[in-house]
Amino acid sequence: MKVVMIGAGYVGLVSGACFAEFGAHVTCVDVAEDKIDALNRGEIPIYEPGLDDLVKRNHVQGRLCFSTALADAVPEADLVFIAVGTPTRRGDGHADLQYVYTAAKDVARCLSGYTVIVDKSTVPVGTARQVARIIAEENSEADFDVASNPEFLREGAAIGDFMRPDRVVLGVESERAEARLRALYRPLNLIETPIHVTNLESAELIKYASNAFLATKISFINEMSDLCEKVGADVQAVAKGMGMDGRIGRKFLHAGPGYGGSCFPKDTLALARIAQEHGSAVRIVEAAIEANAAQKARMVKKIREALGGEVAGKTVAVLGLTFKPETDDMRDAPSLAILPPLMEKGAIIRAHDPQGAEEAHGLLPDGIVYADDIADAVCDVDAVVLMTEWNQYRNLDLDGLRQSMRGRVFVDLRNVYDVEQMCEAGFDYISVGRS
Ligand code: UDX
Repeated sequence: MKVVMIGAGYVGLVSGACFAEFGAHVTCVDVAEDKIDALNRGEIPIYEPGLDDLVKRNHVQGRLCFSTALADAVPEADLVFIAVGTPTRRGDGHADLQYVYTAAKDVARCLSGYTVIVDKSTVPVGTARQVARIIAEENSEADFDVASNPEFLREGAAIGDFMRPDRVVLGVESERAEARLRALYRPLNLIETPIHVTNLESAELIKYASNAFLATKISFINEMSDLCEKVGADVQAVAKGMGMDGRIGRKFLHAGPGYGGSCFPKDTLALARIAQEHGSAVRIVEAAIEANAAQKARMVKKIREALGGEVAGKTVAVLGLTFKPETDDMRDAPSLAILPPLMEKGAIIRAHDPQGAEEAHGLLPDGIVYADDIADAVCDVDAVVLMTEWNQYRNLDLDGLRQSMRGRVFVDLRNVYDVEQMCEAGFDYISVGRS
């Protein structure tokens, strides 16, 4: 099976490497020459656990190669995946499809023999059909089908999610396209992965609806956390009690500083726009978006109040900047919304992140001191804010920390620590949804 993956970004690179591991011959094509050169030298442009080894192994074994030349790879391909970015369009919240459509045009000109063109990027409902129109217009001779195969990969756990998915969703229009995609995913038959076959529009909507539902679950528990603080309940006990009901489930009920990342903020916004365009109401999704912004604002207030209402001249150590652990991705990270207002009010920030500091540099205001290690970050600070639950921050030496700090405020935005233990260790400990 010969596969072309257009876009060697997060989704394209992970998916391409995993298909190669399944035994397919994969060419990842990207317009960014420096990225392709780096990949050919064995350098991986993103941090994702396990990806380095997977890429190198399949590259050395000749099943995974990298190129900028679409025209060399596409004529041979059985399947061409489009995995380019679909960022939020400035101004209106719609997904920007220019890269998808350009890829479709470029592919159309190089097709030879029956080929299945598969949308892997998260795209609004109707995009696959639009891609089919573009290809047919561009090349009236082309023998092809278009399919939709959304990804459900979590950053930091993407390889595992690809190799052991809960389901594979295939939006197809013909038996031929379905058979080809099923053949590609055949290795997953061994672990009895459900393959859910639908039409194009349903597959496209499944992706948005899934992400919006998960984002709603997080916003729901975040709003509960605020109520918990006001009535004296403990949000973790509440979430556990709710999650024991099999209909609710215990996952995605961790209160925190609000969801971030490359998917939930962008996809909830795009779904709201799609619905508006079709005259359909998705009030719950809109509320989840608003609640998420409110949660981030609440975290700013929480930190300010923990410091006695006045942050000017106070030094705050921030542990973790990325939107979640095990990634260097800073896209829509809560730190980007929480730190600037504190700095505007005069707070001095010393930050540490195991992988994200470099990217954070360009996104956060100047003036932040980026510490090389945790000890350096917390030295002589008035407060520590645990922003992202990296493993390194889960087992801090509490006595040592207390001694190296000037103050004793510890704001735990991920509820990593036990309230009693932190109070006993001498901290003014504030967390989310726990009194
Ligand atoms: C998500 C989806 O899980 C994945 O299926 C989809 O294809 C891409 O988007 P990802 O963005 O990598 O994956 O991260 P995820 O682990 O889902 O977390 C997203 C955000 O929600 C993070 O900021 C995380 O900290 C936050 N979160 C998650 C919570 O605040 N509470 C939770 O209970 C779960």
